[in-house]
Amino acid sequence: MAEIAVEATEVPAKMPHVRVAVLGAGKMGGILLQAFLKENLFAPEKIHGTVQHAERALALSTQWGVNVGTDNRKAVEQADLILIGVKPFQVASLMEEIKPALTKAKTVVSFAASVKTSAIEDAAGVELAVVRAMPNTPSALGAGVAALCRGRYVSNEKMELAQRIFETVGRTVIVDEKHMDAVTGLSGSGPAYIYIIIEALAEAGVKVGLPRDTATQLAAQTAYGAAKMVLETGYHPALLKDAVTTPAGCTIDGILELEEGGLRVTLIKAVMRATQRAKELAAG
Ligand SMILES: NC(=O)c1ccc[n+]([C@@H]2O[C@H](COP(=O)([O-])OP(=O)(O)OC[C@H]3O[C@@H](n4cnc5c(N)ncnc54)[C@H](OP(=O)(O)O)[C@@H]3O)[C@@H](O)[C@H]2O)c1
Repeated sequence: MAEIAVEATEVPAKMPHVRVAVLGAGKMGGILLQAFLKENLFAPEKIHGTVQHAERALALSTQWGVNVGTDNRKAVEQADLILIGVKPFQVASLMEEIKPALTKAKTVVSFAASVKTSAIEDAAGVELAVVRAMPNTPSALGAGVAALCRGRYVSNEKMELAQRIFETVGRTVIVDEKHMDAVTGLSGSGPAYIYIIIEALAEAGVKVGLPRDTATQLAAQTAYGAAKMVLETGYHPALLKDAVTTPAGCTIDGILELEEGGLRVTLIKAVMRATQRAKELAAG
């Protein structure tokens, strides 16, 4: 029987012509870079990562199959889209280094916490499009949420490009820059609050006699399911809560305890405190 020749067909990347530099391909930069590859957003040969240490660059290059080096300026020269993923205190010196390679045509997306778009624009010396983003850790599993705000020179097209980046790791929302500290206090720190709630619910399950791993699974899946209900039905959380709460049933007794314990007020205060702290960090 004649053999059928099967030609390997490579699916072109969704944005095959965009050249990307991820400056600071650490935890968050690495999550994004790997998501670009997984989602086939950019062509692998057009992705260039940088880190500080040469041996780490070599290891990541092999691991990801893309060019990872330590020369930021070279990466920027060869890129249309530049992601800034170094620690906030490293942004100023990074900008000094890449300044000669920046042009108006390029787009910078920074996710360095508390670094303002104006700081990057001022350091650039050209009318540079700067988008600032605040992602969170569930991005590692594609379940993140990132808030994005635009600097002075960002066109709608460039903003859409920035959104496409963070849609590879979850949802996006667009906010005014004045709200970025609030975003840090809510969704940036928020996973930690939810872990504590899940841990407490699991502890409660153990208290009422459930095996610990069963209790943890029940608590975590319940948090996941409730979040999914809010996001996918679009109903107000209070309406969804009412639907679970039958008159003189069990849930209303549980809610009574939550209200007496001040859970609602405590969560509000937690977000207020974290927002305040984000403001202090931003002020240096
Ligand atoms: N992690 C999060 O959940 C999260 C969430 C929101 C925002 N952020 C923001 O993301 C940024 C990075 O945080 P992270 O947690 O991903 O930190 P990280 O893992 O330490 O990543 C920082 C990376 O920057 C590299 N680096 C340092 N100096 C450099 C330089 N001059 N040139 C090129 N690369 C350089 C480091 O290289 P080496 O590996 O060689 O040391 C490292 O890979 C921070 O600004 C943070 O505010 C993080």
